[in-house]
This record gives sequence, structure tokens and C-alpha cells, in this order.
Amino acid sequence: MELVVNSAKEFWSELVPYWRRAEGVLAVVGLCYGGSVVVGWLWQVTNGIRVHFWSRLWKKDLVGNYGKWAVVTGSTDGIGKGYARQLASKGMNILLVSRTQTKLERVAQEIRSEYGVETDIVQADFSLGRSVYGNIAKHLQGKDIGILVNNVGMLVTPRLFCEISEDDIWAYASVNVASVPAMTRLVLPTMLKRGKGAIINISSLGAYIPLPYMQIYTATKSFVSSFTSALQVEYQSSGVTIQCVEPGAVSTNMTKFEQSFHEPAFNVASPDGFAANAVATLGYSDHTTGFWPHSIQLYALLASPRWLVMRNFLQVFEALEKKKT
Ligand SMILES: NC(=O)c1ccc[n+]([C@@H]2O[C@H](COP(=O)([O-])OP(=O)(O)OC[C@H]3O[C@@H](n4cnc5c(N)ncnc54)[C@H](OP(=O)(O)O)[C@@H]3O)[C@@H](O)[C@H]2O)c1
Repeated sequence: MELVVNSAKEFWSELVPYWRRAEGVLAVVGLCYGGSVVVGWLWQVTNGIRVHFWSRLWKKDLVGNYGKWAVVTGSTDGIGKGYARQLASKGMNILLVSRTQTKLERVAQEIRSEYGVETDIVQADFSLGRSVYGNIAKHLQGKDIGILVNNVGMLVTPRLFCEISEDDIWAYASVNVASVPAMTRLVLPTMLKRGKGAIINISSLGAYIPLPYMQIYTATKSFVSSFTSALQVEYQSSGVTIQCVEPGAVSTNMTKFEQSFHEPAFNVASPDGFAANAVATLGYSDHTTGFWPHSIQLYALLASPRWLVMRNFLQVFEALEKKKT
């Protein structure tokens, strides 16, 4: 439409109907956006309640749903031991794969006497890379593997990149990265044939934010989360559950370097408490922190500017470094 304007006043009065229409459109857009934010939040809260609380109200038949045996890597301490005990408490036989023979024997004995299930152990140092998987494969033979927990992980005490040894760089690659697809490769084909099973990959909240002083560790955890998400889509209609668990701080040997990450608190779980929560989420969420206070932390983390979070961690680790000297 052509506007015929004789004066400034006339010009503005001609524009009034257009503004009114624009106001109406903006109001509708604003309402739609506000509505979608509110619906998104409501969905997140409802889903959080379903995954972390509702899931704990129901008894799970892990043996029936997935299979008789669970394999847990890095299972003689911390989160891995928590998972092994939790799965045994649900009637699963446990194959423990870890580094120290004496600890393996002790934990296997503990699980057998406490839960009356069968156990088997494999001593394997994942930092040695490819050579350990042949022996693990032998122990898998003849077992109905229902659940694999890819838990093994290492963290060198936080330090600047140039202070990390070459050996530790390769150990990170073998333990935190390669073990996850390599162990998955050992069990997934049989699970696919049976059309059931579950693979649980333990990543970390650190997968979301590259952390200074923990630069290799957080990068390896991004790998675990990325790999797991891709597998979920590849095998979505296979009947095999593939779950990514991204915990915050858990009070284990790994977090001993800093009290605020180690001392049990609202946001620092005990290994057994964490595992009880995390196992309950299996079948309820493919992607979870495993523990509701960690989910709150994740939302706070995602809502904060990334540079600010990274700078805060830098300050924390610089202060720790100063304390040492
Ligand atoms: N703790 C946390 O706050 C936290 C947070 C997020 C994610 N995570 C992840 O959770 C997983 C478990 O961590 P955690 O805190 O429970 O660790 P942890 O307490 O240090 O326990 C690690 C377990 O893995 C075993 N292990 C370590 N290196 C190994 C190797 N090279 N070969 C074979 N076994 C090895 C250890 O065996 P030994 O007993 O022989 O040492 C131990 O059983 C890791 O993937 C970690 O990245 C932990």
C-alpha cells in the first residue's frame, strides 16, 4: 500500500495501524516463546521426578530384562564397586574386571557372601591397551552378559598440561577412551543377537565443560558422552539399552585431591548412594547424571556463561597449586 504523507503528524498517524498490528504479532510471538519456556521447564521437572524418584519406587527384574551376568570395569573401588554391589543386590552374577588382584579377590568374596550370587574376576590393567582384551573375552565366554558397565577411569591430580607425563597421556587414551568402545565391541554383538542387554557408560559432568588443569580428563569424558550418544541412535530399535551416566562429584579415591569434591555433602554422593540412584535410572533415561543433586548442578552449569565456569575452575586449581608450594 502506498503512503501519502503531507506532514510529520500525518506520517505518524498513518503508521499507527501498522504499529498496532506489529504489537499484536509481537505479543503472540512473546506468548508462544514464554509458553514454550514454561512447558520446557515443566517437562524437565516432571522428567527429573520420573527418572530420579519414580524409578526408585518400582522393583526391577534386571536378570529378566537384560541377562544373568553384569560386567563392571574398574570395580574394586568407588563408583564401579558401588555398581557391582547394587547389581548383585538385584540378583545379578558379577564379573569384576580391574587392576589389582588382591582387591578383586576381596571384593568378589564380599559380594558373594553378602548377596549370594556368583562372581568371576579378571585382572586387567587397561593402561596396557589392546593386549588385555583377549583374556577378558575368554572370561565372557559362556556367560549370559546382560549388563556392561564401562566404568574404569583415571584422573591424574589436576595440573598444567606440560606437567603431565607422556606415560599418563597414553594411559588416559587407553583407560578413559579406548576401553569404552573396546569393551562394548566384546559384548554388543551377542546382545544384539539376543535383542536385549544394557551398556552403561560412565562419563562425567566434566564432559560439558573443558576444565583447565583437568584438560585431558574432561576431553576424554566428552569422548565417552559423544560415543554413547551416537551408539544410542545406531542401535535405537535393537532392544539393547545404551545409557550415558554423567556424574558430578562422588566421594572416591579420584576426588581425594580436594576436600570440597570429596567430603560427602548435598552435591557430593557416596559411591553406594550414587550407584543405588544411578542403577534405578536404567530404563528410565538414556542420558542422566544418575543423581538428582548432580542434575540441579548440571542445569546451573548450563545456565552459566562457559567462560565464567572455566575461569572459576582455573582459580580453584591455581589456589590448590599455591597451597602445595
Ligand atoms: N569420583 C567422581 O567424582 C567422578 C565424577 C564423575 C565421573 N567419574 C567417573 O567414574 C568412574 C569411576 O571413578 P571413581 O571415582 O569410582 O574412581 P576410583 O575410586 O579411583 O576407582 C577406580 C577403579 O578403577 C580401577 N582402575 C583404575 N585404573 C585402572 C586401570 N588402569 N586398569 C584397570 N582398573 C583400573 C581401580 O582399581 P584399583 O583399585 O586397582 O586402583 C578402581 O577399582 C571413572 O570413569 C570416572 O571418570 C567419577
